[in-house]
Amino acid sequence: MAKDPVRVLVTGAAGQIGYALVPMIARGVMLGPDQPVILHMLDIPPAAEALNGVKMELVDAAFPLLKGVVATTDVVEACTNVNIAVMVGGFPRKEGMERKDVMSKNVSIYKSQASALEKYAAANCKVLVVANPANTNALILKEFAPSIPEKNITCLTRLDHNRALGQISERVGVQVSEVKNVIIWGNHSSTQYPDVSHATVISEGAEKAVKSLVSDDEWLKGEFIKIVQQRGAAIIKARKLSSALSAASSACDHIRDWVLGTPEGTWVSMGVYSDGSYNVPAGLIYSFPVTCRNGEWTIVQGLEIDEFSRKKMDATAEELTEEKALAYSCLS
Ligand code: NAD
Ligand code: LMR
Repeated sequence: MAKDPVRVLVTGAAGQIGYALVPMIARGVMLGPDQPVILHMLDIPPAAEALNGVKMELVDAAFPLLKGVVATTDVVEACTNVNIAVMVGGFPRKEGMERKDVMSKNVSIYKSQASALEKYAAANCKVLVVANPANTNALILKEFAPSIPEKNITCLTRLDHNRALGQISERVGVQVSEVKNVIIWGNHSSTQYPDVSHATVISEGAEKAVKSLVSDDEWLKGEFIKIVQQRGAAIIKARKLSSALSAASSACDHIRDWVLGTPEGTWVSMGVYSDGSYNVPAGLIYSFPVTCRNGEWTIVQGLEIDEFSRKKMDATAEELTEEKALAYSCLS
């Protein structure tokens, strides 16, 4: 029997990530090839005409899984009954800016949209915040939507996770699908800590540690970390626009694994509400290694943390604590 459609909200849908993301959702990349969807697309009035153009293209593409499109500038209409909310709306950073430089513009959007989601979204709606500063926007959304369970509010660090997989695959000379269990700890910012201490490559049926295959600790602790931390800036420099197709694809990966589960023996990185695991301060949205089953994420426990990792994990937590204070000062 055909499944009931899932309603997926994309905010900022007339923007560049939105334009890459909505066809992926309509094709089943996010929720699977047998899951019908109804897209809810929100943007602001100046983008209403462009948003309508995106709607026209969705109709023209004749996606079999797409059972309806709501294109609106009305936040209540956009949020009503949605099961999944992908929050992309906001301002992207430009060359020379840090992601937190867009804080004052973006946190107020997340405060007001929190209330709409809380009131009008379906019960148990899963929320993914993409817009920067992603962790802190997600935290503000969580704090201003107190009745949405905290486990339902996450932010995107899967793009950083995928970037780390890509760098390791190029360095070791294996397919990216053969690399697993990298970790992004902390903030989706230049203090994030891409960690390969527990990462492996599966080759010819055997699992080998990335550390021993790369066999260059200086690169792993230096250039590799820097490349992943600065990849967003490198894309902006090259494209004069921030990443879009990779962000959209990673957002699909994030939701797909959350809803449908992570493969046995594999974890992914998600920005989630810290419960104090690994001595990360509770009450921050911090990226951890997680596994997902039955629509719920669980932080991977018991990984050994050496002194090098500890310092990096603490530094990115400290930045998130500062961002939280800055966000509140922007809102007051
Ligand atoms: P964009 O400027 O192309 O699109 C943003 C869209 O949001 C625009 O259409 C704009 O009109 C809309 N918008 C603005 N305010 C809104 C509001 N209040 N409600 C609804 N829509 C609103 O930007 P983009 O390149 O698509 O990037 C979007 C965001 O995603 C940026 O903040 C960017 O920095 C961030 N980003 C995050 C990641 C990540 O990995 N977390 C990756 C890439 C980009
Ligand atoms: C990215 O990582 O590509 C995005 O967060 C955009 C940016 O500002 O870096």
